[in-house]
Formats: sequence, C-alpha cells, structure tokens
Amino acid sequence: MSKDFTDQRLSYEKGTLDSQQLPSAPLDLLQVWLDEAIAQAVPEPYAMSLATCGADGQPGVRIVLMREITESGIVFYTNYESAKGQDFTENPNAEVLFFWHEMQRQVRIRGRITKVAQTKTDAYFHKRPHDSQLAAWVSEPQSGVVSSREVMEARFAELKQQYPEGSHVPTPEFWGGYELSAHEVEFWQGRANRMHDRIVYSQQQGGGWMTKRLLP
Ligand SMILES: Cc1cc2nc3c(=O)[nH]c(=O)nc-3n(C[C@H](O)[C@H](O)[C@H](O)COP(=O)(O)O)c2cc1C
Repeated sequence: MSKDFTDQRLSYEKGTLDSQQLPSAPLDLLQVWLDEAIAQAVPEPYAMSLATCGADGQPGVRIVLMREITESGIVFYTNYESAKGQDFTENPNAEVLFFWHEMQRQVRIRGRITKVAQTKTDAYFHKRPHDSQLAAWVSEPQSGVVSSREVMEARFAELKQQYPEGSHVPTPEFWGGYELSAHEVEFWQGRANRMHDRIVYSQQQGGGWMTKRLLP
C-alpha cells in the first residue's frame, strides 16, 4: 500500500529571524528560543534528535533530553555502553536537532562530544527519581537485546529489594553525561512561501563567532 502526502501544506508565518539583532554567542540565542518555546508550552522542548556515526559509517539518530546549556555546549545523559556511546568512542563528532513545531523553528548544533566530570554525573544521577535511578541499572547494556519484558521487570524488582525507596543508589559506572561542545549552530525560522530565515554561527579561531545567512 502506498500513500501520497504531496497535497499537505502548511504556511510558516509565526516569526522572523533578524540578522541585525543576533546575540554574539549562539547558545545565548538557543536559551532565548528555548525560553520562548517554554512560554508557548511546547511539550518537552528539551527533547532533541541526536545524530551519531560510528566507524561503520552508518548514521544513527534518536531522541535524548538536553539537561543543561553550558558556556560551551549542551549536556545530556545516557548509557556509555549504548549504541550511541559506542559511536562516540569511534567518532566524537555529533549533531543535535531541536524542532519546535509550535514556533516553526529548528536549531541544529554540530560539535564534538566529551564525557562530563564524574561529580556532575553523580549530582544529576541522584537528582533523578529513585525508580529512574534503578532503571539505569536495569538498562545494561542499553541497546542490548533482552529476551522479554518479564526479564526486565524481574531485574527491576530485585533492585527495588536491594535498594528500597530512600536508600542510596550508586551511580552506575556505565552511565553518565556527555557534553556536545558546539562549533556550528544553525537557527531556522519558517517563513511564508518557503522563504525561510536561516542563520548559521561558526566558531572562529580564538573562540569568537561569525554569522552568515543561508539560502533556505
Ligand atoms: C522523549 C524521549 C526522551 C528520551 N531521552 C533519553 C535520554 O535523555 N537519554 C537516553 O539515553 N535515551 C533517551 N531516550 C531513548 C533514546 O531515544 C534511545 O532509545 C536510547 O537512548 C537508545 O539509543 P541508542 O541505541 O541509539 O544508543 C529518549 C526517548 C524519547 C522518545
């Protein structure tokens, strides 16, 4: 069965991106756009698509949650032994993408991945709800095959006995944060007639940023 969507059209008219009014650093604009997405009640505005590519050259993409904007990039948490974690050991280059449909906006951040400090991982791990901490232990190795849901549930129940509510759950050594240090950030604002605004920030030698407008 095939289905044709070529008649589906939406006009993008919710905003503009003025190249005269840009902050000097792209992560400042990311923060502004994120605040606006929160104000517009965009559901899970921190959810982003993360694209990776390991040594086999096969790209992979999946959603992760941005947990922090730092001076130099963005931070998310995952299992270091997952498929994406394996990709990072082979190739630290990655790109993330936010799409805020309600704002007709897209942001792409390209950069290099490093692990965050263990102290930061520990602090975040222990902020998570108790059961989410246990789930991190269940999901080892994340992306590995499990024979059934029951096997996962049984492991979770075992961990709940070992670590009752309120007890200290150690941070798994295979779980933690990554920071994507940005060197190129593109902001896309949908406009009428497909005449969209695209501004890309590129990092210069010495750390400053240059902006350019791209054809849509
Ligand atoms: C809304 C949403 C949020 C997610 N957040 C995370 C996250 O913060 N960290 C994470 O490891 N996986 C998260 N996931 C699951 C990932 O998309 C993915 O299934 C998992 O990390 C395994 O990916 P991999 O096999 O490519 O390594 C999220 C999925 C969704 C749909």
